[in-house]
Amino acid sequence: MDLSAARVLDALDRRGAQVGRPLSIAAETASTNDDAKRAAAAGAPHGATFLADAQTAGRGRGGHAWHSPAGENLYLSMVLRPEVSAAEIAPITLAVGLAVARVVARVIRDREDPVGSGRALPGGARSGPRGAEARLKWPNDVLVGGRKIAGVLVEGQLRGDRLVSLVAGIGLNVRTVTFPAELAGRATSLALLGVQSEELDRSSIAAAVIAEVGAVSAEFEAAGLGPLLREIRAADGLRGRAVEVGTLRGIGAGIDDAGRLLVRDAGGAVHAVASGEVLFGATLEG
Ligand code: BTN
Repeated sequence: MDLSAARVLDALDRRGAQVGRPLSIAAETASTNDDAKRAAAAGAPHGATFLADAQTAGRGRGGHAWHSPAGENLYLSMVLRPEVSAAEIAPITLAVGLAVARVVARVIRDREDPVGSGRALPGGARSGPRGAEARLKWPNDVLVGGRKIAGVLVEGQLRGDRLVSLVAGIGLNVRTVTFPAELAGRATSLALLGVQSEELDRSSIAAAVIAEVGAVSAEFEAAGLGPLLREIRAADGLRGRAVEVGTLRGIGAGIDDAGRLLVRDAGGAVHAVASGEVLFGATLEG
C-alpha cells in the first residue's frame, strides 16, 4: 500500500517538519476528525495526526458526507493548538485551505514539468489539462478547473472563550477516477488531472500536507491571516463570479483582512460574509 506510517514519518523527517507526530494510520475508521477530537480531548499535542485508508462516516461542512473509499485518497486530521483566542480562529480554515492548495499546485506543476526545467516533456506528451491552477473556494474548498479536489473541515474545542484545541480535517482526492453520480461533474482528483501513478504516492502527499499545515498554522499563530492574505487573494476562485450565500446574491469581490468573503450586490453595496456555504456560477467579470 502507498500509505504507511513509516514512509510518512520518513518524508516528514526529510522535510524537517516538526508536526505530524504522533502519527496514526487506521485501515478504516468512522471519521479521522472524530479520532483526532478524541485524542485532543485526551491531551494529544499540537501536530498529532490521524490518517485512515478509508472512512465509513467521513463528513464535510453542513453535514455533507465525504466520499471516503479505501485505497484511493487522503483522509487526514491534525490536532492544532495555536495560541490564539477563540474569537480569532475562524479564518484558520482559509489558511489550512491555502496549505492544501500549495501542495495540490506543486503536484500539478510537477506533472507539467517533472524536472522543473520549464521544458516540454519528451514528445510533448502530457496526459492532463495544462495550466490548471489550484483555487480556493471560500471558505473551505480547493478547486482545480472549477471542480473540487479537496475540502477542509475545522472543528474547535472551546472552554469559555478560550480555544483549547482545533482539529483540521482534510480530504484530498488523489486516485479516485470514478466518483458517485452526485459528485461526478463537480469533483476531481490528482489522477483525473493527469498526475502519473508514480506521483500519486499518498505517503509523500500526506507528508507535504502535514508539513504545509504546520507551517501556515505557525504563521497564523504569530501574525494572524495577514502574511497569508496576498497568496489567499491570488488563489481566490470566487472573485468575479456570480455567488449566492444564503439570501445574498452578487459577485465575489475578494476577501477582507479578517478572512470574510466580500460580495457586491446588484446595487453595488459590498457585504462581508463571515460564514456560510457559497453557490457559484459563471465568471461575470475580472
Ligand atoms: C468539506 O468539503 O465540506 C470538508 C470535507 C472534509 C473531509 C475530511 S476527510 C478527513 C476528515 N474526516 C472527516 O470526517 N472529514 C474530514
